[in-house]
Amino acid sequence: MNILAIESSCDDTGVAIVKDGREVLSNVVASQVPEHILYGGVVPEIASRRHCESISAVCQKALDDAGLTLKDLDAIAVTYAPGLIGALLVGVNFAKGLSYSTGLPLIPVHHLRSHVASNFLSHPGLEPPFLALIVSGGHTHLVQVKDYTDYIVIGRTRDDAAGEAMDKAARLLGLPYPGGLNMDKRCAGGDPKAYHFPQPRVDDNDFDFSFSGMKTAAINLIHNAEQKGETINVEDFGASFMHSVVKILCKKTELALKLTGEKTLVLAGGVSANSVLRREMEALCKRRRVKLCMPELRYCGDNAAMVGAQGYYEYLSGNVADLKLNAIASLDIDNK
Ligand code: KG4
Ligand code: ZN
Repeated sequence: MNILAIESSCDDTGVAIVKDGREVLSNVVASQVPEHILYGGVVPEIASRRHCESISAVCQKALDDAGLTLKDLDAIAVTYAPGLIGALLVGVNFAKGLSYSTGLPLIPVHHLRSHVASNFLSHPGLEPPFLALIVSGGHTHLVQVKDYTDYIVIGRTRDDAAGEAMDKAARLLGLPYPGGLNMDKRCAGGDPKAYHFPQPRVDDNDFDFSFSGMKTAAINLIHNAEQKGETINVEDFGASFMHSVVKILCKKTELALKLTGEKTLVLAGGVSANSVLRREMEALCKRRRVKLCMPELRYCGDNAAMVGAQGYYEYLSGNVADLKLNAIASLDIDNK
């Protein structure tokens, strides 16, 4: 089954064609980073406009790269939630137009589900059940994936997402957007013990996360250094911050592995590209004799191939939309 998949939830316009949920026939992403970098973050209005401008050409390129035409397709999948509403609407309306004109079924895909599904592209043998740690710019979730479309959220962030915290700390250090990525590139070799960040406590749920205290600590450290006329070592500060975030992620994930008894851990979302996180999770899983699956780096960030992967399983479970499908800015992963 050939699914043409569309992703426009944030600042990447993506179209891919994926066969049977596992085989990527083409995957095109038009990045808007060069424009948003001017503002230090994503400007939603600009993101929507750029999606409008590029989506037709990106779609045509995905067909050309796969050597296919619309006649070779079996369904259209699209990210409909959660994300920037104006950005989502571009993809949803384009998908509805394609579905209407071709008569092909329209499959709505949840963004976080597709991040999890990015692992199906890189690990052919991977099947639920497993535990997933989803770490992106907007979300930090520990999820039991019972089946391809069946999820139990066991922990989530109470405030900032892991990626958001890294982006904000990177910005304080003067690193360009996207902060998490640039902090990883510039600071991975720094001294992780040079600066101290408090490990947060979330009293009433062992699996929930909180990163806002670390952000405040970062602001205070930089502020105090400025007042004393001291200079911050960017590499060491970034390395210390990343290790502190990763320490929290590892601690909660290990607890969840113990509680659930899951034998496979899956990482997902933009932050799963982080070199410190990948290394520490490898060590954790080796120690606990748990199988670890991580997306290939090219599938960690937003892309449409992962939407095609999840779209296949949504279709198999009967999740098909009509032309009334709307974009939704905020929606839990366990909601259809
Ligand atoms: O999943 P994603 O592409 O978009 C959302 O759904 O939010 O995640 C974007 C987040 C950003 O916060 C970005 O800074 C972060 O992923 N990110 C990284 C790395 N690459 C991307 N954070 C840390 N290390 C990286 N190598
Ligand atoms: Zn994402």
